[in-house]
Amino acid sequence: MAAPILEMKHITKIFPGVKALDGVSFDLRAGEIHAIVGENGAGKSTFIKVLTGVHQPDGGEIILDGKPLVMANPNIAIQHGIAAIYQHAASYPDMSVAENIFIGHEFRTGPFISWVKARKEAQKLLDSIGANFSPNASVGALSVAQQQMVEIAKALSQNARILIMDEPTAALSKKESEELYSIARSLRDKGVAIILISHRFEDIFGLADRCTVFRDAHYIGTWDIDEVDESLLVHHMVGHVIEHYYPERTPHPGDEVLRVEKLSRTGYFRDVSFSLRAGEIVGLTGLVGAGRTEVVEALCGVTGFDSGKVIVEGREQKYKDPKDSMAGGIGLLPEDRQKQGLLLPWSISKNITLPIIDKCTRARLFMSGKAEKTISNKEKEQLAIKAPDVETAAGTLSGGNQQKVVIAKQLAASSRIIILDEPTKGVDIGSKAAIYELMAELAAQGVAILMISSEMPEVMNMSDRIYVMSEGHVTKEFTDVKNLTQQQILEAAMPQERTA
Ligand SMILES: Nc1ncnc2c1ncn2[C@@H]1O[C@H](COP(=O)(O)OP(=O)(O)OP(=O)(O)O)[C@@H](O)[C@H]1O
Ligand SMILES: [Mg+2]
Repeated sequence: MAAPILEMKHITKIFPGVKALDGVSFDLRAGEIHAIVGENGAGKSTFIKVLTGVHQPDGGEIILDGKPLVMANPNIAIQHGIAAIYQHAASYPDMSVAENIFIGHEFRTGPFISWVKARKEAQKLLDSIGANFSPNASVGALSVAQQQMVEIAKALSQNARILIMDEPTAALSKKESEELYSIARSLRDKGVAIILISHRFEDIFGLADRCTVFRDAHYIGTWDIDEVDESLLVHHMVGHVIEHYYPERTPHPGDEVLRVEKLSRTGYFRDVSFSLRAGEIVGLTGLVGAGRTEVVEALCGVTGFDSGKVIVEGREQKYKDPKDSMAGGIGLLPEDRQKQGLLLPWSISKNITLPIIDKCTRARLFMSGKAEKTISNKEKEQLAIKAPDVETAAGTLSGGNQQKVVIAKQLAASSRIIILDEPTKGVDIGSKAAIYELMAELAAQGVAILMISSEMPEVMNMSDRIYVMSEGHVTKEFTDVKNLTQQQILEAAMPQERTA
């Protein structure tokens, strides 16, 4: 067995009020893909930030090629060939691909930067990973997947021997994920060591050679991937068996509360019709890019529509903005929660109660600090949001826990219609079960829920009815979900062959 190129020994990291890592160890070999898994807030991202010099550990050591090394700042990590790409690529959107790749280590002839050479080299790097966009393209105009390729090219330009991917596929479609997988595999075969963090078991079992589990700031163990299966991993991650993953429900649909008729927005979707009844959970599925998010954004007033009707509780509505639709009783959990759903410097409590405070001020009522706390504490407990207390700033929470705060905010707003766009993306398995349970409870209380999701098991197990979208159209409605196969949904989701 090859000696590890990297060893992290007994790493401890303490934030005010939180021990994020408690004596965690890890080792990495050249030419392997090593996954790190664990629940939201387990310490995965913090561990990576210690390795890349973003955070200084309070204890433990980092040993690279057999020699101890102090990662005093991110530059030291880069000099030693350690590079990280994140879910939200931290690039410069207004600059070109070549500029993004070589910024900070430009080619120089005397005092001048040679962008001609940079473009040439960038082209070579892009070719080597099979990226088919130009080095002159502006990064802001690329898709998330392409932006990640830019990050990978950047890492390669710095001769990265250790490449870290923290939830790289969370925002990608299936096809894009597969492209990323094949890049990762070919880099591994060239001897690059890859650390992969993901909540998707497909990623872990499809890609990793070994897998390390963290639980609650502790190291639990490391396994060869063929030594473990999904249920064993879950057991290690959660510490116990999850019994009722999908809640038992007996739906009692009431009156129709939402009806969308022939809604169209040029260039995005056309003639979309569907309906939603009180107490129902309706799935809206399809491939990423089918227009699902665009439809709900249009109906909630985030964007708008050109023609068609939105009828809420019998009345036609055209909402100006999401505040307007929220006041009308529709809560939207947006897909991009970091950008649209949270005020990062604010406390958990202020974030959760924001929509209610809005309602109170409109009605010239006043909400006491105590009520605010009671409501937030209840949500924090229900969704198992990991934080010292509800006064903690949302920005310091782990990615998954930030998502739970946005979900809590929607729930606290006591909307009659709730639209959830990919509610469990980036959320760990135990919290997924908690979210399903809450959805079931809300539906039982008569709330109508529309759930956009690309995860087949979730769509099939949670929905009373399912609509499938493809290329901006609703292609199918399934009412008999119990006897449905995944294949039937996939067929309806596939772009239709057009006869010319
Ligand atoms: N800058 C910070 N200040 C205070 N606490 C922090 C900070 N960064 C992380 N934490 C806390 O450290 C713990 C571990 O967070 P971390 O982001 O490492 O989790 P994670 O395993 O990456 O979770 P996820 O799967 O949700 O991304 C959490 O309790 C988090 O709130
Ligand atoms: Mg994280």
